Amino acid sequence: MISFGGGVPHDTCIPVAQIQAAFEKVISRLGAQAFRYGPTEGEPKLREFVATWLNRLELNARADQVLIVNGSQQALDLLGKVFIDPGSPVALERPTYLAALQAFSAYGPRYHETALGESGPDLDLLQNALSQGCRFFYTVPTFQNPSGVCYSRAHREEVARLLNDYATVLIEDDPYSQLYYNSTPPPQPLGAYGVARPIFLGTFSKMVAPGFRLGWIWSDYETLRHLVSVKQASDLCTGAFQQHLLVETLGQLDLDAHLAAVRAFYRKQRDDMAGYMERHLKGRLSWSVPKGGMFFWAALRNRSISARALLARCAQKGVAFADGSAFFADGGGTEFLRLNFTQVTREQMDQGLGIMAEEIDSFELEEDRS
Ligand SMILES: Cc1ncc(COP(=O)(O)O)c(C=O)c1O
Repeated sequence: MISFGGGVPHDTCIPVAQIQAAFEKVISRLGAQAFRYGPTEGEPKLREFVATWLNRLELNARADQVLIVNGSQQALDLLGKVFIDPGSPVALERPTYLAALQAFSAYGPRYHETALGESGPDLDLLQNALSQGCRFFYTVPTFQNPSGVCYSRAHREEVARLLNDYATVLIEDDPYSQLYYNSTPPPQPLGAYGVARPIFLGTFSKMVAPGFRLGWIWSDYETLRHLVSVKQASDLCTGAFQQHLLVETLGQLDLDAHLAAVRAFYRKQRDDMAGYMERHLKGRLSWSVPKGGMFFWAALRNRSISARALLARCAQKGVAFADGSAFFADGGGTEFLRLNFTQVTREQMDQGLGIMAEEIDSFELEEDRS
């Protein structure tokens, strides 16, 4: 199968040698202690690392405001548990991250979606949503999954102002801000624009390795207290060994140099993908080249074809991608598809996108005949 489906880091971007060295060190230094239960809040050294990292991003964080979680996916579930009661209004981007919808929907919210434009959400729609008393606004403002949108500075300021006007909690999810492919980094997190009630989710999945299953929530103390109690009920604590191993790995690794190498690798992948998309899909799909993150977000020009039907045919020919409608709370967006570019080889891009073009054409031929 040629898969443009997932959002998984490339194997060459995982610092295996440093993880191996860290593994030996943790075991020889801590022995059995490395395998105890740990505090629910997380290992102190990792919380400190996260607070320092957040301060670099201009979020004014303290280590005791950080909760270490099993990936930001767990953060989404815990936040759903704490903030959502059946019928609670919740504000989201349209489209939004599929697995956030899965996590929140378990608690029965009423979604208010705000359409995303090139530089951020439609501000009138957002204001309208917030005026309904939403419990929070969930956003991925920097290289969003799936759309790749990165809010401009002006949009960040406006969104922050609206959130404060309506005293709405911001849940900012940020897996991708370090994966930028222009020479300059993206703007600071939305939470750094004077938001009164910021909650910030981060993860080591794309920066180091997803298999650690380590992410974090930074929040105010009151929210943290609730989150700690629901996390305790859910899993007592995040695995202590994986936290010790990550702390040691971060000690072995020059993280800035590692991230620069990861960016260079993905930038080339993105450029290759852009070239093959142009070659095979021009006129059949429309898209813009993402400035960061892991995905092309594209729309079928011929609206009578759905991405889901196209996916069914492509899968029979050994090609997969993500059906865009899964990223819409109401199941709309049937013309969209999301294409990951971090894992595929050049040959797979050429072959897989070529097959997609053939399948789009076969729908059109059938249309012409009928
Ligand atoms: C927007 C967004 N949030 C959260 C996650 C989950 O990340 P983690 O591996 O930390 O659970 C992802 C993973 O792709 C993501 O794209």
